[in-house]
Amino acid sequence: MHQYVREFSQYEGQEVTVKGWVANKRESKTNIFIVFRDGSGFAQCVVSLDAVGEEQFEEAKKLTQESSLAMTGMIVKDEKQMGGYELQVSSLKIYHISTDYPISNKPHGVRFLADRRHLWLRSKRQWAIMRVRNELIMGIHEFFQKDGFMQMDSPIFTGSACEGTTDLFETDYFGKPAYLAQSGQLYGEAMAMAQGKIYTFGPTFRAEKSDTPRHLAEFWMIEPEMAFYDNDMNMDLIEAFVKHLINRVIKNCKTELDVLERDISKLEMVNQKFPRVTHSDACKILRGELEVNGRNAISVQEADLAAAKKGIEEMSADIAEREKTIKGGVKKGVRKFNEAKILELRKEIGVLEEQVRNIPKWIESAKNFKDGEDFGGSDETVLTRVFDAPVMVYNWPTKIKAFYMKEVEGDPHHVKGVDLLAPEGFGEIVGGSERETDLDILVRKIKEHDLPMEEFEWYLDLRRFGSVPHSGFGLGLARMVRWACNLDHVRETNPFPRRYGRLFP
Ligand code: 4AD
Ligand code: MG
Repeated sequence: MHQYVREFSQYEGQEVTVKGWVANKRESKTNIFIVFRDGSGFAQCVVSLDAVGEEQFEEAKKLTQESSLAMTGMIVKDEKQMGGYELQVSSLKIYHISTDYPISNKPHGVRFLADRRHLWLRSKRQWAIMRVRNELIMGIHEFFQKDGFMQMDSPIFTGSACEGTTDLFETDYFGKPAYLAQSGQLYGEAMAMAQGKIYTFGPTFRAEKSDTPRHLAEFWMIEPEMAFYDNDMNMDLIEAFVKHLINRVIKNCKTELDVLERDISKLEMVNQKFPRVTHSDACKILRGELEVNGRNAISVQEADLAAAKKGIEEMSADIAEREKTIKGGVKKGVRKFNEAKILELRKEIGVLEEQVRNIPKWIESAKNFKDGEDFGGSDETVLTRVFDAPVMVYNWPTKIKAFYMKEVEGDPHHVKGVDLLAPEGFGEIVGGSERETDLDILVRKIKEHDLPMEEFEWYLDLRRFGSVPHSGFGLGLARMVRWACNLDHVRETNPFPRRYGRLFP
């Protein structure tokens, strides 16, 4: 048996053997420093001429990025190193020398990386994201299983649309059309009538031609469904669930969040009551007519815009200063340091320039937002900026929501839906509702939504035999990972993302 980087703290002062890959290497006359990775983590390993002898030292010189090897050596504490330990190598065995590995440690374009996703997954950042994803998955099962929910698998081939007919992937099912499931909810409702509290956790599909940082064509969704829950109980559950997940990541993914440079204090904001606002109040907040904790959504955007402009000015001045330093003629080390800093600053300026382009459009859209409309991505960003914690928007306009949502008593223009919007501009991560139980209303809604009645007969049976109030919601795993890790785009959240325009690799 060999040992793993993750267990190094248990082996301080002892000899171990590790097996893995070279993430990076630098060498001097007598030492080779390897940033080693074995899947469980990253660690510095030092191969010194004195310790391994000339023959093995020459071998080790041949190592390149992503070459595979085994090393035996002593674990020594070193606070400066990632993970806090270093391996002082006494012998090594090479499995394979990798040549011309395409992904270097320099920056690459996203397209270049996406085309090499099968290799990109090995990089430290992607490693960290996949670990956070795994932690969330564990946390999801833990939360529901401990609370008496039963996991169910809902079908992927379906005969009907759950979330509207516009974004269905059609397949040929023995000569008849079948659709890839957009949601497992309707089947979850049936199982909730058999098991009380259930959750699905499976892939779902949307044929949206949306090339945005939030949309995938294939994503994993978690959909609990609870008999005898109204929408208030549903919202309490969403809040407890999301708190549990984020706190679990904070507790168990310290190394990963550190790699991702995630500001943990932002995540800790979940540990307060999530504000709940009606859709109609949310519209007022968006237009700047209603303030939250003294914050006006429009003013916040105007301040962001001014800050971005100021940031660009300051960073441009900094770049000019550094360029002058370089031109003045300096030592190689100083020049390199300044060149790297300039690259970093240019990247940050790029982000700010995008804000300067976007914010005026966002303000325009927010100011003119009409009651009864659905929020676009930018509206969610503007809205959530006035809150620190995730915010629940409930009681939605009937005409923009799915057929199954329960009408608010005495107000057929609104339904008991709820969206949870994550802070920092991440937007919707959960969508849910109390379900309509009135058979006549459901039949009318199915007709209004132009859905084939015969496909929904089985669903209507749930209202014919022991109908009860019930609620549920869906959490998009990709969006949860994106928020937890603070990613620009959901493309990094799935091992092999499927999104508009991409099926490879
Ligand atoms: O709001 P949605 O469409 O709700 C449903 O599907 C309900 N049937 C859920 C339920 O009540 N059981 O989707 C739920 C969540 C969204 O909040 C979002 O997090 C995620 O699924 N989602 C997507 N994630 C990535 N790419 C997409 N194209 C997504 N569409 C929805
Ligand atoms: Mg939704």
